[in-house]
Amino acid sequence: MIECVGLLKRYESASGAVEALRGLDLSVRCGELVAITGPSGCGKTTLLNLLGALDHPSGGTLRVAGREVPRTPRERALFRRGTVSFVFQQFHLVPTLTAAENVSLPLRYAGVPRAERRCRAAALLERVGLAARREHFPRLLSGGEQQRVAVARALASGAGLLLADEPTGNLDGETASAIVTLLREAVAEGKTLVLVTHDPEVAALADRAVRLRDGRVED
Ligand SMILES: Nc1ncnc2c1ncn2[C@@H]1O[C@H](COP(=O)(O)OP(=O)(O)OP(=O)(O)O)[C@@H](O)[C@H]1O
Ligand SMILES: [Mg+2]
Repeated sequence: MIECVGLLKRYESASGAVEALRGLDLSVRCGELVAITGPSGCGKTTLLNLLGALDHPSGGTLRVAGREVPRTPRERALFRRGTVSFVFQQFHLVPTLTAAENVSLPLRYAGVPRAERRCRAAALLERVGLAARREHFPRLLSGGEQQRVAVARALASGAGLLLADEPTGNLDGETASAIVTLLREAVAEGKTLVLVTHDPEVAALADRAVRLRDGRVED
């Protein structure tokens, strides 16, 4: 599903350049659940953004879902559609849509009829424990509730690759393990999942944990 060889990412800004990834090698098989760990600033979010074709590498090779990730923003947008879904560290729910409408969004893009969308969104929100918050807008939800909506939205998409940045970062222990169980079920159904976590208990539930340090995989 994923093959990175010597991946480089350099950010240029007015305050200087940052080498966020410095020759990172990583392979992930289809149907695998891989946890990415490592200290703050080591390049975890940068890596997910490249794997999900939100950004492009400064060097090295990157193949996702059997294809070289394209370079231009437009081609990358087309590439992402139907291939990859995200749970972002900052959630990025659409503020003007209710919880149920946010979860329905990938289904809408996929052309699923309205009645079926409502039904599937309701079922997913129930699975993340938010049946009673269906009609709430994101600003009326707690951080942990928004995070669970983001997980439900990612699961609604038909994409084979799920990328999740700290998907349990705002949750208490019990809710976190319920969410990880749900993500594991998605993997059992054939999805590939790469998740970033600071939580050793979450990392322990992965098939494999990969630790980053200074933009590389630690030995
Ligand atoms: N757009 C950007 N422009 C400049 N530097 C950036 C940018 N995005 C990230 N960086 C820098 O790249 C490095 C890696 O950042 P990244 O967000 O990938 O870290 P992280 O491992 O996800 O950290 P955290 O655990 O705190 O989320 C950091 O030093 C950060 O300051
Ligand atoms: Mg991060």
